[in-house]
Amino acid sequence: MRRAVFIYTYGCQMNVHDSEKILGLLAEKGYSNADSPEEADLIVFNTCAIREKAEQKFFSQLGRTKMLKRKRGDLRIAVTGCVAQEAGEKLLRKAPFVDFIMGPQNIYRLPEAVSSDRRIDIEENNSGIALREFSADRQSRLKAWVSIMYGCDNFCSYCIVPYTRGREVSRPSSSILAEVKDLVARGYKEITLLGQNVNSYRSDMGFVDLLQKIDQTDIERVRFVTSHPRDFSTDLIGAISELRSLCEHVHLPLQSGSDRILRLMNRGYTFSDYKGKVDAMRSKVPGIAITTDIIAGFPGETEKDHADTVKALKEIGFDGIFAFKFSPKKGTKAHEMKNQLDETVKSIRLNLILKVQEGITYRKNKMLEGTVQEILIEGPSETDGEMLVGRTRTNKIVTVKTSGEGAGSFRQVKIDRARLHSLSGVSIDSKLDRV
Ligand code: 5AD
Ligand code: SF4
Repeated sequence: MRRAVFIYTYGCQMNVHDSEKILGLLAEKGYSNADSPEEADLIVFNTCAIREKAEQKFFSQLGRTKMLKRKRGDLRIAVTGCVAQEAGEKLLRKAPFVDFIMGPQNIYRLPEAVSSDRRIDIEENNSGIALREFSADRQSRLKAWVSIMYGCDNFCSYCIVPYTRGREVSRPSSSILAEVKDLVARGYKEITLLGQNVNSYRSDMGFVDLLQKIDQTDIERVRFVTSHPRDFSTDLIGAISELRSLCEHVHLPLQSGSDRILRLMNRGYTFSDYKGKVDAMRSKVPGIAITTDIIAGFPGETEKDHADTVKALKEIGFDGIFAFKFSPKKGTKAHEMKNQLDETVKSIRLNLILKVQEGITYRKNKMLEGTVQEILIEGPSETDGEMLVGRTRTNKIVTVKTSGEGAGSFRQVKIDRARLHSLSGVSIDSKLDRV
């Protein structure tokens, strides 16, 4: 009998890729992908616990799904991801109609779980998943996520991830390289190496050695997320400047511009350490794009600390940021800290941060007008069927006026207009095609 699965995915890139792994595993068990939850025999919620908002989104969807289960007793519901790990049995008590829950470290055991009566698997151990090779059901035919390590040992005081994703374990380099070669053979053009802190990758080799080995395959573009400023080495900066495949974009979460707050966050660097790394990157890799994460309203953050963050944004000039209101997560140190700020104060600070950054992002994009960029075309633009859309090596979205070959081709594009969230340009090699 054919069965179908529908998956809801919340949260970060790790979760997006975990969902691809889950669908791949279930496909091996005979599950096809359902177009809607109504058509599914199994609904999986792959959840995120990083901030309250992500959790709330999941719980309201779960509430709606309860109705489906009432109508159809044979429907199975599974909860995977960080909320499953964090809530454990409490989740089964709160939502008894959920059939089983499974933490992110154990998703490789999902095929057994769907056909067993066991309702909970939240064992904390990344060595099983790190040794496992998955045939993921990937969303894109061009760009692929590749996990290189699992877990996180940093224990930033605000963050739940070390408690949900467990201790760091790196995948063997041979297995990563085999995956990359297979992706190349199947026509993939770009990979993004995934880990909570890729800079602390360590197996039979370190991260920079791994990047060198990957560079020797035929993959065209390589990216990696996420980096930790403390572990971001001079060798890595050298690799970005030297390796053909490594793209000129680094996502390097700063979190705050105040040294006092960085200390309370247990980040292990000062703003000046951070700025030193950015300066080194920019002098070795001209034109490199740098993006970051910022948390607004950490406990005890004063107006002066907040002003330091705004100043830091101006001083560094990021290409883009993700900024969030601090969300107190039970189980973390920051949750226990006195001087939690008002939601309104947090919102005001977040809005200022976002507003200041908008001007910076726009100015940065504007500087690219008139330059020629290599674009990996991803397909037709959603808003204008006549245009193609793709990304620069620095990861900026570009809509392109061009003729000919679409997805998967590389184009030299002259940027003629910058906007806040995208650029547009004309393919100069398509002009040459016509001559
Ligand atoms: N509150 C707000 N933002 C958080 N992040 C992590 N934990 C929290 C929290 N408790 C942000 C950090 C991190 C990004 C993935 O999420 O900025 O880099
Ligand atoms: Fe990803 Fe962190 Fe959310 Fe887990 S809690 S899904 S690791 S962002």
